Amino acid sequence: PDSLRVLADTTGRRLPIGAAMAAEPLISDDGYRTLAATQFSMLTTENALKPQFVHPGPDTYDFTEGDLLADFAAANDMRVHAHTLVFGEANPRWMQQVALADRERVMTEHIRTVAGHYRGRVAEWDVVNEPLSPDDDGPDGRPGLREHLWQEAMGESYIDKAFIAARAADPEAKLYLNEFGAEADGPRWDALYDLVVRLQERGVPIDGVGFQSHIHEAGDHVDPAVLRSHIADLAELGLSARISEIDVYGESPSVQAGQFAGVLGACLSEPTCTSFSIWGITDRYGSTAEHDSYPLETGDELPWDQQLRPKPAVAALRDTL
Ligand code: XIL
Repeated sequence: PDSLRVLADTTGRRLPIGAAMAAEPLISDDGYRTLAATQFSMLTTENALKPQFVHPGPDTYDFTEGDLLADFAAANDMRVHAHTLVFGEANPRWMQQVALADRERVMTEHIRTVAGHYRGRVAEWDVVNEPLSPDDDGPDGRPGLREHLWQEAMGESYIDKAFIAARAADPEAKLYLNEFGAEADGPRWDALYDLVVRLQERGVPIDGVGFQSHIHEAGDHVDPAVLRSHIADLAELGLSARISEIDVYGESPSVQAGQFAGVLGACLSEPTCTSFSIWGITDRYGSTAEHDSYPLETGDELPWDQQLRPKPAVAALRDTL
């Protein structure tokens, strides 16, 4: 049968269908590589471009894995969604020890170097990943900002500065803010919406918002109609949206299939939803892997099983395209 990518490309929307990918299995596993190249038209750099891996020392950058992924994408006519320039949870130790007064310079230098290196080779960047606190810990009962070295030094303005630096380093790339848990109505979505409104009021060059769509338990189930309404709310602000990291843990294969298909359907129905990307391909490697400990932790969250056989989710995605 036709692949997800071929089906998507032969329908009117031509929606990019993506997956987070890693270098090791692309090198060592023929079956994984074949799925990657045939099923997907977009590649998200899973861990390779996180600050902890790409910028291991103050004067040391390691673009080896990112370059391999970018080359693989180019060889297979795939768009690259680069992840991520700024993320409080993925920093090397040296970066966390930078003096407060030097942090703005270090952050913007990091962005200039990494986004500059990939200029012309990546379609989009997650500029800031997960800016919101994981808890509803703000004074208004909504999540405040996630606390980390950049937020500590610059407050909310670190987000503005990161987007401005990314735009300068790669003027062609679409610039995204990526967040989890904002698919449903509630304080997380309200906080995210208000944040992007403030960014726009300050003239920050943001193009869109990524909905991670990690579905870990029944309580995370996505209501496609609500997700659609959030995508439409962003469209009214002139912002794109994308499904950036979907995976569905701990469900029967048919419930899992329904969640994947429902979220894809929401994206397909909204013209401003620019891509649908899964956080991994196969349960052989999973999506919670440690970059440095391949072979990786396995689970049940992805559309292809540990033998690389399609699960019901694949048929459901095909039927939705
Ligand atoms: C995860 C990776 O998949 C793991 O390999 C790594 O050990 C931890 O990070 N949201 C994100 C991603 O934006 O960066 C996270 O990736 C998964 C949750």
